[in-house]
Amino acid sequence: MHTFISRNPTQTKKLAKKIRDLYPNHNLFLLSGDLGSGKTVFAKGIGEMMGINSRNIKSPTYTLVHEHKPVAKRTALPKLLHADFYRLTVKDDLLMESVNLWLSEKGIVIVEWPEIALSDFQKPHLHITIEETGENVRQIKIIERL
Ligand SMILES: Nc1ncnc2c1ncn2[C@@H]1O[C@H](COP(=O)(O)OP(=O)(O)OP(=O)(O)O)[C@@H](O)[C@H]1O
Ligand SMILES: [Mg+2]
Repeated sequence: MHTFISRNPTQTKKLAKKIRDLYPNHNLFLLSGDLGSGKTVFAKGIGEMMGINSRNIKSPTYTLVHEHKPVAKRTALPKLLHADFYRLTVKDDLLMESVNLWLSEKGIVIVEWPEIALSDFQKPHLHITIEETGENVRQIKIIERL
């Protein structure tokens, strides 16, 4: 388990890139944390590293998933599926199948609010918890599940 401290949103984005380097074999990121803790900021960091314009990465709370492709037809780069299960009240099998399909196609998947299906996600994955510990301060804890 790794724990990091971030003192501003830019540091959180940089940390996302660092975590990607620390765990290069992980393509599934589960992001837990209260409303406004910084899950989407973290997702923007992953997206930037993948060549995706992070302005397009917004919390997909109302649509459940957003698909992103790298700019400039850099097709060798993986695609990103950014999901948010906040509004799910029961586990959605179709959505879980989309996650698995995306991973089987070598894409990267980020899921905010994964709690409703936590034990059903395929392994390996990284479970990342972001906690607000002060104004602009976030503790970011990484659990690797193999
Ligand atoms: N160190 C920090 N890291 C990340 N975000 C921070 C930090 N300090 C302040 N913030 C602010 O906290 C907010 C985090 O918002 P964000 O949308 O990423 O939260 P979220 O966890 O995705 O929330 P939701 O559950 O509503 O989707 C932003 O307004 C950001 O500017
Ligand atoms: Mg969000």
